[in-house]
Amino acid sequence: MGLMDKHAIIEKNATLLLVGSLLVVTVGGIVEIAPLFYLDNTIEKVEGMRPYSPLELVGRNIYMREGCFLCHSQMIRPFRDEVERYGHYSLAAESMYDHPFQWGSKRTGPDLARVGDRYSNAWHVAHLTDPRSVVSESIMPSYGFLKDTPIDVKDFSTHLVANRRVAVPYTDDMIAHANADLAAQADPNADTSGLEARYPKVKIGDFDGNPQQVTEMDALLAYLQMLGTLVDFKNYDEAAGYR
Ligand code: HEC
Repeated sequence: MGLMDKHAIIEKNATLLLVGSLLVVTVGGIVEIAPLFYLDNTIEKVEGMRPYSPLELVGRNIYMREGCFLCHSQMIRPFRDEVERYGHYSLAAESMYDHPFQWGSKRTGPDLARVGDRYSNAWHVAHLTDPRSVVSESIMPSYGFLKDTPIDVKDFSTHLVANRRVAVPYTDDMIAHANADLAAQADPNADTSGLEARYPKVKIGDFDGNPQQVTEMDALLAYLQMLGTLVDFKNYDEAAGYR
């Protein structure tokens, strides 16, 4: 009996075909998945990554609530055109504290993984309030109401605790100071030494230009201005032997 005839046996017997397919899928699955359990870590640790500050975390929640991810990705792929436009390609470690991650699959607007520090706060406020006022052909919706909406959080430490349960390394110190850190980041006159020690490279200021209250605009800008600014890629590439 030739090999093709033997194959006919499987083809004519549905049960045998099913068992055979299952076997193939199982072996393939084990080969792909099992090694992950034996590696020390599947995400390479990168210097500079830290959990989000409380205000950044509020901003991230607003980003998700408003569906910014429907038009904006946060993952720069390792292709020359992307790297030249957006900067160093994204590392897995850069979204290791994201629950859920914001890689996205649609770019109606540009990738935002490294938008931090690219524009002034005033530009962002103008752009989010009326995108056409700064980019005449923009089709981005307006989010001016964020400026008039005070952030609605009573005890923010619970959000940090929730994140800690999914392995974001918030310390007891960070959790104890969550509410104070939240307020201090948007207040240029506050004592921010504790905040800066807990969250290196944190951006402090009255983001939305309205010192009267901490608004959703403040929080969203704290988040946007941080994106892509934590890792120093000069050090990373040297350590990885690329430079
Ligand atoms: C309907 C799609 C859409 C949605 C939703 C959207 N944007 Fe945009 N966004 C765009 C487009 C298109 C551009 C490019 C034109 C411009 O700059 O306005 C853009 C540009 C931007 C830029 C400038 C990026 C750069 O590198 O120049 C930022 C920042 C931004 N959006 C933030 C946001 C935020 C934050 C949200 C959610 C509150 C949001 N966008 C929601 C479509 C969208």
